[in-house]
Amino acid sequence: MEERVWQNLHLCARGDPDDTLADAALAVCEGKVVWMGPLHELPTDFAAWPREDLQGAWVTPSLVDCHTHLVFGGHRAGEFALRLAGASYEEIARRGGGILSTVKETRAADEATLFFEAARRLEPLIAEGVGAIEIKSGYGLDLASERKMLRVARELGRRYPVSVYTTFLGAHALPPEFAGRADAYIDEVCERMMPALVDEGLIDAVDVFCERIGFTLAQSERVFDAALRRGLRVKMHAEQLSANGGAALAARYRALSADHLEYLDEAGVAALKEADTVAVLLPAAYYFIRETKLPPLDLLRRYKVPIAIATDCNPGTSPTTSLLATMNMACTLFRLTAAEALKGVTCHAASALGAASRHGAIEAGRQADFVAWRVDTLAELPYWIGRPLAARVVRGGMTVYANHAGDALPSGRSVT
Ligand code: NIG
Ligand code: FE
Repeated sequence: MEERVWQNLHLCARGDPDDTLADAALAVCEGKVVWMGPLHELPTDFAAWPREDLQGAWVTPSLVDCHTHLVFGGHRAGEFALRLAGASYEEIARRGGGILSTVKETRAADEATLFFEAARRLEPLIAEGVGAIEIKSGYGLDLASERKMLRVARELGRRYPVSVYTTFLGAHALPPEFAGRADAYIDEVCERMMPALVDEGLIDAVDVFCERIGFTLAQSERVFDAALRRGLRVKMHAEQLSANGGAALAARYRALSADHLEYLDEAGVAALKEADTVAVLLPAAYYFIRETKLPPLDLLRRYKVPIAIATDCNPGTSPTTSLLATMNMACTLFRLTAAEALKGVTCHAASALGAASRHGAIEAGRQADFVAWRVDTLAELPYWIGRPLAARVVRGGMTVYANHAGDALPSGRSVT
């Protein structure tokens, strides 16, 4: 039986920096936390177990990246150049570039290539402490290609120490073969693609890009109706580029989350609160497309809507593989506090996946998934930009990533 006591750590068990425990210990048996508390109260049952000294590190739950498009073919560095020369994201999309250029590359790529490229994006996230990740389809836009993306996402979850939650985003863009026939494409999404992919066990939730360059409110409703009929929870890319009541519609369907939300108004905020829908903010997309309209943070706070933060890793609006850098942007650009940012990538992000009982907190009885951070204070997590801070990433009680830089210093205290 694998038993261990992790000690010499500051514990932040629920991702809330206002709720911490100094000089704490975690007793882990067979991959699960069996006890946590002050070291001096360690029950005698565990006293003889092997010890692991974390040298005064801060320990938080593993991070959760609750909105990504991690699996895709190619990249869009060329389009980035066009945008820097003045073209807008929306203009490029209307010219047939944008999402559709990634669709072309994704359709052409085989599963092995998609897996390899996505794995190179997943590895840095895991090294930063991500233990659960959502991965959307949406660059296939036909049954075979959407299946290919979702199979790759599932395979990543099998081959890497991370829980993968898949989201079917068939309604991401109108594929060229359906040009001018958006309603017929929505039929295809609801009546052919979704049922087949559900039967194959490839879908955990369903998303829609509800936008003037995506799908209408009425089309989004049809996708949501089809999802609910199959017992699936929904979420929405809502009010990213324009105000259209998308978030309120998502709330009517008890969506897990509404994401982006730059153009959200007060009625939409109230609807999210009423439905217990998480507001997922994606500051790296805001930054990368040089958006200027800020999401209504004060309203979200006033209505006490849970706020999550995610990378939105994708080739068009958010080519980042750093959740920590994204936390920095959430603070710098949206003025989240460091505490809000940490809750946004732990407990609230887990709720946005509908998985708050599995992720986002360290608790007796749960799988022992946590990160030991080489920092003096948790406020450093969103403070540094592009600096590796995780000393250990632990999943099921096993160290799956360790950064030993600085461990050999004479003081035994890291200074990297
Ligand atoms: O989350 N807005 C829609 N979907 C993605 C971008 C996809 C792309 O441009 O490839 C987003 O921003
Ligand atoms: Fe997205």
